[in-house]
Amino acid sequence: MLSQNHLHVSLLYIVLLTGTKYGCGGGGCGACTVMVSKYDQLNNRVLHYTVNACLQPICTLHGAAVVTVEGIGSTKTKLHPVQERIAKAHGSQCGFCTPGMVMSMYTLLRNKPHPTMEDIREALGGNLCRCTGYRPIIDGFKTFCDVSNAFNLFPQAKTCLLSTQTELTCDRLKLISPVDLTNLLELKTEYPEAPVVVGNTTIGINLLLCHLCIHCPFLERTFQLFVIYLLCVHVHAGVSMGAVCTLSSLKEEMERAVREMEAERTRGYQALLQTLRCLAGKQIRNMATIGGNILSANPKYDLNSVLAALDCTLQVMSKENGTRAITLNEELFTGFGKTVLRPDEVLLSIDIPYSKPWEFVSAFRQAQRREFAFSIVNAGMKVLFREGTNIVESLNIYYGGVGPTLVKVGRTCQKLVGRSWGEELLADACRLLEEEVELSDSAHGGKVEYRKTLTTSFFFKFYMQVLQELRERVHIQDSVCLFPLQLVSNAQSSQDPVGHPMMHQAAFHQATGEAQYYDDIPAVQGELFVYMVTSTRAHAKIINIDPSEALGMTGVVTFLSAGDVPGQNRRMLFNNPEELFAEEEVSCVGQIIGAVVAESREQARRAAQMVKVTYQDLLPVFFTIEEAIQHQSFFDPKRKLERGDMDKAFETVDQILEDEIYLGGQEHFYMETQGLIAVPKGENGELELFVASQHSAYTQEVVGITLGIDSNKITCHVRRLGGAFGGKVMKIASLSAITATAAVKTGRPVRCVLERGDDMLITSGRHPFLGKYKVGYNNDGTIMAADITYYSNGGCTLNESLIMEKALLHMDNGYKIPNLRGRGLVCKTYLPSYTAFRGFGGPQGLMVMESVLHEVAVKCGLPPQKVREINMYREEECYTHYKQLFSPRDMLRCWDECLDKAGYHDRLQAIQQFNTSNRWKKRGISAVPMKFGVGFSKGFFNQGAALVNIYKDGSVLVAHGGTEMGQGINTKALQIASHILKVPMSSIHIKETCTGNVPNAAPSAASFGTDAVGMAVKVFQRSLASDLFVIACNDLCSFPQIFEAYCQKVSLSATGFFMGPHTDMDWENSEGPAYYYFTFGACCSEVEIDCLTGDHKNLRTDIVMDVGRSLNPAIDIGQIEGGFVQGIGLYTIEELQFSLEGVLMTRGPSQYKIPALCDVPPQFNVHLLANAQNPHAIYRSKGIGEPPVFLASTIFFAIKEAVAAARRERGLGDSFPLSSPATAERIRMACEDQFTEMAPSPEKGTFKPWSINI
Ligand SMILES: Cc1cc2nc3c(=O)[nH]c(=O)nc-3n(C[C@H](O)[C@H](O)[C@H](O)COP(=O)(O)OP(=O)(O)OC[C@H]3O[C@@H](n4cnc5c(N)ncnc54)[C@H](O)[C@@H]3O)c2cc1C
Ligand code: FES
Ligand code: FES
Repeated sequence: MLSQNHLHVSLLYIVLLTGTKYGCGGGGCGACTVMVSKYDQLNNRVLHYTVNACLQPICTLHGAAVVTVEGIGSTKTKLHPVQERIAKAHGSQCGFCTPGMVMSMYTLLRNKPHPTMEDIREALGGNLCRCTGYRPIIDGFKTFCDVSNAFNLFPQAKTCLLSTQTELTCDRLKLISPVDLTNLLELKTEYPEAPVVVGNTTIGINLLLCHLCIHCPFLERTFQLFVIYLLCVHVHAGVSMGAVCTLSSLKEEMERAVREMEAERTRGYQALLQTLRCLAGKQIRNMATIGGNILSANPKYDLNSVLAALDCTLQVMSKENGTRAITLNEELFTGFGKTVLRPDEVLLSIDIPYSKPWEFVSAFRQAQRREFAFSIVNAGMKVLFREGTNIVESLNIYYGGVGPTLVKVGRTCQKLVGRSWGEELLADACRLLEEEVELSDSAHGGKVEYRKTLTTSFFFKFYMQVLQELRERVHIQDSVCLFPLQLVSNAQSSQDPVGHPMMHQAAFHQATGEAQYYDDIPAVQGELFVYMVTSTRAHAKIINIDPSEALGMTGVVTFLSAGDVPGQNRRMLFNNPEELFAEEEVSCVGQIIGAVVAESREQARRAAQMVKVTYQDLLPVFFTIEEAIQHQSFFDPKRKLERGDMDKAFETVDQILEDEIYLGGQEHFYMETQGLIAVPKGENGELELFVASQHSAYTQEVVGITLGIDSNKITCHVRRLGGAFGGKVMKIASLSAITATAAVKTGRPVRCVLERGDDMLITSGRHPFLGKYKVGYNNDGTIMAADITYYSNGGCTLNESLIMEKALLHMDNGYKIPNLRGRGLVCKTYLPSYTAFRGFGGPQGLMVMESVLHEVAVKCGLPPQKVREINMYREEECYTHYKQLFSPRDMLRCWDECLDKAGYHDRLQAIQQFNTSNRWKKRGISAVPMKFGVGFSKGFFNQGAALVNIYKDGSVLVAHGGTEMGQGINTKALQIASHILKVPMSSIHIKETCTGNVPNAAPSAASFGTDAVGMAVKVFQRSLASDLFVIACNDLCSFPQIFEAYCQKVSLSATGFFMGPHTDMDWENSEGPAYYYFTFGACCSEVEIDCLTGDHKNLRTDIVMDVGRSLNPAIDIGQIEGGFVQGIGLYTIEELQFSLEGVLMTRGPSQYKIPALCDVPPQFNVHLLANAQNPHAIYRSKGIGEPPVFLASTIFFAIKEAVAAARRERGLGDSFPLSSPATAERIRMACEDQFTEMAPSPEKGTFKPWSINI
């Protein structure tokens, strides 16, 4: 039963079931997807559609039925086929996105039992997954396309209708639902300032700020409310759409019209469809309405530019003035979020006219990601020709995203009327556009030159499309995307799980929403919530912290700051301290200063905003690597590795090249944000933590030091993590210490769950890098000497900036460069401190070296793959630049097989042909080899422990020190235990990772987790099995033998400890061994770029990976695909933006784009190298978690090849700077042409840029 005060709260916080997840709270990730069913009175049917529970206020669901993932199947009763198939297809790794994926697919099947691949892609377009790389999810679901499935399991939706005006009131908000149009207009007259809430996707975030809303549910009741306008009505001149129609309905109506009417009349609708296909995800389109999109008056929203170009008319109505028509054009919008509608007016409908003969329409949008991303610039363009001629009769061009409101380029349009559609018109149009589109160099949103370039480029595209249509009138077909299944070898007997593609051990629980993450643990009696207060200044002295106003607020229990810490206010890593609460000074925006503890999440959040901190700004303050170099601001130690004689080598080489490459950072964006629950036990100071930590032993240690109590009184429990990728090692320990302090101070359990924005701000991510290099090479492409200085942006504390060591250790990749020097400098800046991220510096170190190879090839005029081959390690016994012995045999095999399987040479030719015949689209292909070190170079971490208990009934409990975060460590541990004990996996159980069971465990990181845990499980065999063997020679763990062993007083519990290799580095002498062994691989990718917009398509990727003898090929392939797709994000999409004041501006999925389904290459082939061995690790397997990220650099270099092709055609050099990520903006600006020339970069210092490259 809900209290009145919950009415405004989103469905997400109400369902109180574990399956509906919080990933972002803003409709941007799909983790909270549920199905809503409503009765469509008019058509006498029940409509089923997905929504984002986080944006769906509970009060707006009156009369609807909601189905969550728990409602469709469970492990206790029966799994729904959707749940079963995603699990069995290995589409669930950490599982945090899985319930949302399941609900999107379930709803699709509810409406369309036999969907097409395109339907599936559309349905999942609004669901993000950070682990899998999407391919296995699609593989699981595409089975629904072929088979005939009878779904009788769907529950009947129950709905009811309201017949009287309803008012719902809670402490802060009154929400009135009118009963009919007259009632609505009366209410609007009475409360003109009250917003009309329809889909709630714009207003949702701010709903709590409103005191009164008028809610118009957009389905059944609005049919009554808006009389005829709700429907799509074909009137003689076009279609009239009800304002409260959802964007999904709009899309359906447009599709129907396009299907049923002559093509000529629906040109405008086709353009609208072009936009609607990429606009948001399915869930948002199901909630968002056309009226809401228009009246939100946000120039980044896509519809207005197209609708305005189409000359649409709005019908608005008020009680006092009745109905009036308003033209949808630039005059409708009076400012950002403002329109000319009077406060008492509501929008009834939108008339969208049919196209006339000789009329041509197009819509354009370019976003950070191809789909499910707000556009950077959008445009609607329409031209009408004098019948039978190419003379312009009228022209409409509208842009969104180049100012605070919709922009019509009226002067340009006017001047082009009466002109022939030809080259001269084009030239004049571009010049006029350049003059008319005003965008200040400091404009909000930045990317100024790019946005200006897009305005002319879009017009050029329009010009070309119209020209082509004028000539030929043909349509271009979209290509169909298929995800082929991977085939892997079954090397062993089906009885033995090792080596088989066993399903993730918790996949069924994850698919049904039963899997518990820390925040799914029900509230403990008396539980409180803690919310962090963070610095708003980058470098300042803290003069005063005043929490008095916050403390006076309802529900607030206490405020914590440095003085409240009973032990030490710091966290240590290798003698480097980091304060938990800033004491005297802050050194970045986002640094934790204090924390508010309150009875509820909402109370803590609101109170935290009321804590007043007075600062005195300090100097210096700087954020970028360049500035740190100027200030010589570096952390110690400064590392160097060197082999050969650099100076001598530079004297003898044919050529010397000096250049640099900048690599941006990356946010982890694990789907589950960081947090924990701290529960004081009340006796002896004992404390239990249920925590999302990758390194529970470290968390335990930090909490102990903070509280001043021994580790033996602190128990950390980690059941599973919703993704981690290196981000849940360090900051989670600080958060745990703060939460534990709150729990001890109040004597009550305390929960901490970071909101997505705070998680991104506080915890930071992968280090940005700058690689400056000097290379000496011969004209045949042989590199004789490379001197590289790596600079990383470490932020304000050293934290895990030791990743620089891994960058240096990987700088040689697979190349034998006889004279090689790497220096690593970690810049100290005033940003949140950067931390570990999958690959731990490897992807940056390798990338700089590949850039060197690429540039040398360009300078030599040789194909890059040839230069790579010339320089590869080839002898059976090779030494790295730190003198570690290895054999490159398997790397060379991966390389040859990869080029062969990819058909590299044939495709290279085909690409050259494609590029010759396409002026504005170019393709590129690139291949790289990889050698990646596995294990910790700090040797003491290379250890693992496991505890195995055998019970008298023959069942087995395994506990180990690793954490399950999607990488399948538990599944592999079960496989190994099953193999050793010769009992089925079903008799073995792994409960959780617990510091009480396995102490002092190393972090699950460095691709070493399985090696450590697997070996530990294997090692225990010796201690346990030998005893048991005395009693029962065969069939270990069968019931009689176990019982006999028990009776003979044999211990049925044993630990296995694996003492890993003693890796170490002597940095003084550049001498290893740094790694346990190397994982090898090779990858080849092909892309296509749009030279006019910078958009790129990943066409095909082939990977050959050496994982030794895979313990579980399905999990290993999952790791490869997931890592690769994360690498696509790193090298091409994900862009963090900081303001000039050092404030992170990209704080959620709306601003920060991780790869979505649309970014996965349609042809994505992963092969495991056959007959590969690894004598060093468990069952000859290899660690695989980290290496594949780097392989996505092939996409970056393929883009570079494609850009080079475009530049060559324009007579420009092949050699040009391209920073990573290769975003649409960077690709476009690198394809220099007449349009980019029209938007030159302003001189430094003449303007205030919106964001900086840190
Ligand atoms: C994650 C996410 C991604 C998105 N991506 C895109 C995208 O790529 N492209 C894009 O164009 N948009 C995008 N959107 C925006 C989305 O399309 C709009 O939020 C939506 O169309 C607004 O409709 P609504 O019904 O939810 O409006 P609400 O939030 O309910 O209302 C919005 C405003 O419109 C007013 N209003 C609505 N209807 C009426 C009416 N009939 N009469 C008077 N006033 C009215 C309300 O008073 C309110 O001020 C995205 C949104 C989210 C959350
Ligand atoms: S939590 Fe709802 S979409 Fe992300
Ligand atoms: S399995 Fe999709 S986010 Fe982890």
